[in-house]
Amino acid sequence: MPELLSYHPEAALRELPGGLSEDLACALETARQETLDDVEVWQSGQVPQDRQPLDAGFIQWPEELLADLQLNGNASLVTRLNSCGQRLREQADSLVVLGIGGSYMGMRAMFESLRSPFWNELSREERTGCPRLYFEGWNVDSDNQRALLQLLQNRADQFRQTPAGRTAVIVISKSGGTLETAVAFRLFRDLVESSSAAAVRELIVPVTGLQGRLRSLAEVSGWTDAFTIPDGIGGRFSVLTPVGLLPAAACGMDITALLQGAAAMTEHFRTAPFESNVVLQYAAVGHALEQELGASTRVLSTWGSRLEAVGLWYDQLLSESLGKHELGATPLTVVNTRDLHSRGQQHQEGRRDKLITNLLPGAPRFESLRVPQHEHDQDQLNRLAGTSLQTILQAAIDGTNQAYADDHRPTADIRLPRLDEHVLGQLFQMLMLATVVEGRLVGTNPYGQPGVEAYKKNMQANLGM
Ligand code: PA5
Repeated sequence: MPELLSYHPEAALRELPGGLSEDLACALETARQETLDDVEVWQSGQVPQDRQPLDAGFIQWPEELLADLQLNGNASLVTRLNSCGQRLREQADSLVVLGIGGSYMGMRAMFESLRSPFWNELSREERTGCPRLYFEGWNVDSDNQRALLQLLQNRADQFRQTPAGRTAVIVISKSGGTLETAVAFRLFRDLVESSSAAAVRELIVPVTGLQGRLRSLAEVSGWTDAFTIPDGIGGRFSVLTPVGLLPAAACGMDITALLQGAAAMTEHFRTAPFESNVVLQYAAVGHALEQELGASTRVLSTWGSRLEAVGLWYDQLLSESLGKHELGATPLTVVNTRDLHSRGQQHQEGRRDKLITNLLPGAPRFESLRVPQHEHDQDQLNRLAGTSLQTILQAAIDGTNQAYADDHRPTADIRLPRLDEHVLGQLFQMLMLATVVEGRLVGTNPYGQPGVEAYKKNMQANLGM
């Protein structure tokens, strides 16, 4: 049984007179039950008006997919995703994922956490036959898109009709109508159709809801594969649906392990008592510090360079889910030690409105580099000769936590045993569950994002649509 991530709020709790109260523990037990009951309410198809929208489908989804894999083998969704991912890998050396918000941030988080930071500069062999990966459709930036289109066109011209020259596109939109993604898809579709006409049916894969414009396009376009984002799973809760799993499979990630990690976290959430339940403890500490100490800014302090995109995914999850009715903590992702040199001053001595949660990635994947000896010691680093970078990073983590503790600045740790698919699956599921539980606790529906509609409506009106 792979190890579960752990949560350590002791330093934060020292700042909370009385710790977590009995009342809060009871309220969180109720919120847990409500969160789990939502699954049945949603499955019944009879969602009362005051609970809509109800996108509780993400909770049992990883277990459902694993059961489907066991029962249906080659016909299961996991196998179909893996087969499609393999086909894309074999046919194209460049893969563009088009999507915005929940439709791309999860894959970006997995890509940055689990793949080399210089992935796109590695040879195809070094990438074990997996494609280079690009994200677009998350903005409206002509220069950016032109630069990528040009790069891919040059590859197509140079390596005509071979995998090295081919680009595949996974276009992701639950609603199927998001303008940013739809406009980018027109442009990248043109590129694929003009440069790889023969294989075009196989190189474009839509991932979308059961209805909408992208679904309609899929119905008339004859693309070999099209995957569905199930009803009842909202955008920012969809990382473990084909939204994240298809690009992950195309990049050679172990999508079964992602689902197993998430399923293990769901089971932990369901069964572990309040005192040792990482989801409930995390939600409790965030809530108590916000209520009692005014810590309305939640800093996710990622250490090392690989977890920033996980933090950005979480920023979206928390702000779109709980930033409603003039309530909701403000999430902020930082990368350390980088941001100790930009935000550190404020976090150490600024307003006392922050809870800092360290997200600790565990040991480096490869043996840690060490400081080399040098004959010129004017930088006085020979005293550190032989010290690993991991030891230096740990000194920074401990030193920073100590400095915050000395000034009564609350901190907590999420400790990951290592960075792999299983652990990322756990982490995604933990943070999604904690967000929903907190929503139920404070009476905010965590699903839906009605506030985003206003800009969309105005933008479309400005365009005469
Ligand atoms: O959480 C959400 O639902 C949003 O962030 C969506 O993911 C985002 O707006 C993209 O929507 P769509 O997938 O419909 O294009």
